[in-house]
Amino acid sequence: MSKARQARAADAREIGRIEVDTWRETYAGMVPDRVLIGMSVNRQAALWTHELRRGAGDVRVIEDRRGNLVGFGQCGAQRNGSLPYHGEIYTLYVSPDAQGRGIGRQLLLSLFGRLIERGWTSALVWVVEANPSRFFYERMGGKLAARRTVPVGGQPVDTLGYAWEDLPAVIARLASRAGHKTPR
Ligand SMILES: CC(C)(COP(=O)(O)OP(=O)(O)OC[C@H]1O[C@@H](n2cnc3c(N)ncnc32)[C@H](O)[C@@H]1OP(=O)(O)O)[C@@H](O)C(=O)NCCC(=O)NCCS
Repeated sequence: MSKARQARAADAREIGRIEVDTWRETYAGMVPDRVLIGMSVNRQAALWTHELRRGAGDVRVIEDRRGNLVGFGQCGAQRNGSLPYHGEIYTLYVSPDAQGRGIGRQLLLSLFGRLIERGWTSALVWVVEANPSRFFYERMGGKLAARRTVPVGGQPVDTLGYAWEDLPAVIARLASRAGHKTPR
């Protein structure tokens, strides 16, 4: 049974490893190869060490039954002032060998729970349009709400914004579908 919890400082390296592994697996052909080749676990671990010192409460991880990290995500305030959503899912990554076992759903619910703790009841996530993970967000009840093109490694990448307008209702619906209690 996997468990969601708040990240700790000691998780920074594993978070960096999962990030590099999932970027390389997911974004090949969607962002320039040199961006993926140039990624480094050491550098990402250092960035996450800094990030966790700033606010570990907004970073959630999933541990498998042996205590190994198999996914992580980060949330916070929604960053686009012209869109009417309170919270944002900044990152959501499940290790390639742990995908398809309900961990992404568990993680997303945990992040939604965190946004509600902060008093925010709606949320947005940006996903690369060519990334099939967009269908995961649709499965989780996200509604297509915005589009934008962003530069990644100097190349324009089309992205889609999926939104949830009533997080408590989403948590109740998804948690009952997964047979989970409301995650913390
Ligand atoms: C997207 C991601 C987080 C989903 O996590 P996961 O653990 O693989 O997904 P789950 O097993 O929790 O899936 C939950 C449901 O979504 C569905 N789903 C998951 N990925 C899907 C996909 N690519 N297409 C369609 N449905 C999908 C599952 O079938 C499942 O359906 P159910 O409700 O019938 O059980 C994970 O695959 C991942 O990290 N991908 C690579 C990185 C990435 O793209 N992250 C998002 C960046 S914005």
